[in-house]
Amino acid sequence: VAPLRVGIAGLGTVGVEVVRLIERQGRVLSERTGRPVRVVAVTARSKAKKRGIDLSGFKWAKDALALAGDPEVDCLVELMGGAGDPALSAIDTALKAGKSVVTANKALIAKHGLKLAKAAEKHGGALNFEAAVGGAIPVVKTLREGLAGTGISRVYGILNGTCNYILTRMEQEGLSFDECLKDAQRLGYAEADPSFDIHGHDTAQKLAILASLAFGTQVAQSSIYVEGISSIAPEDLKAAAELGYRVKLLGVAMRTAKGIEQRVHPTMVPKSSSIAQVMGVTNAVTIDGEGIPPITLVGPGAGGAATASAVVADIADVARGIRVAPFGRPVEKLQATEKAPMERH
Ligand code: HSE
Repeated sequence: VAPLRVGIAGLGTVGVEVVRLIERQGRVLSERTGRPVRVVAVTARSKAKKRGIDLSGFKWAKDALALAGDPEVDCLVELMGGAGDPALSAIDTALKAGKSVVTANKALIAKHGLKLAKAAEKHGGALNFEAAVGGAIPVVKTLREGLAGTGISRVYGILNGTCNYILTRMEQEGLSFDECLKDAQRLGYAEADPSFDIHGHDTAQKLAILASLAFGTQVAQSSIYVEGISSIAPEDLKAAAELGYRVKLLGVAMRTAKGIEQRVHPTMVPKSSSIAQVMGVTNAVTIDGEGIPPITLVGPGAGGAATASAVVADIADVARGIRVAPFGRPVEKLQATEKAPMERH
């Protein structure tokens, strides 16, 4: 069988781990998918940067667009981030050439997911973005495939590892917000611009994607009420603790009589609740399905290794020849998002 030839655009925290994981799991991957998976080409902003991995066996592409158009690349893995170019045109180019794309780029999927899904549908490639939400947790797949036969009434949870890490350390160690954020950056959890994390936009992008998968709506980040955690101090967490609560940044999307309500904000949760036990960089997503008790998925939500795990699983699906409508149904079936007025709960 011809190997799946992978091109990786972006060699930051995640890209480096993807290269390592494909190397380490090469045999298992080819056993599981029936096809060898090979990284053949890469590109990144700096060729000279020390990354601790051997890149000498890979072709170095001039840029992401060149990688996308390279006839020797079957599958483009986009790990550059950013809601527009160069990631957008590289993915678009690869899809229009009938190639498959794997991306961890939630900002891009939240903004241009529909258009890209259309291109994937038209030209026959896959567009896989499991790593965009919940790090290593297979939540995209759970909503899209695992619960394909189940009506969903609500999906909610902790979707940003950086914020949960900050809130956990502020509460447990009384550290300042800034100190905790610096550590989250050092550990590779935060976005390149961490204001996306702390102001709730990263959670909103992920929620928009989950809501689309859950409710069959068009991804619409603009319909989400968003409030972040930047104004929370250790004293607030202490006051909440004295009342028997913990503060968590939650993203919630639910079906209401008036439409799909979507919101992101810090929430007081009783200390005894299961969501209050989710600490550090861990994410948790609960899905309320009609006729069944809630399903909760918990796991590492950020960081190179966690995200690489989901990226490589998506690459494995490409190697297997699996093509699923990226948002779980053909784009033309996705409904425009009706924005439900916020209600107090
Ligand atoms: N900055 C994100 C987080 C990375 O902290 O959750 C994973 O999407």
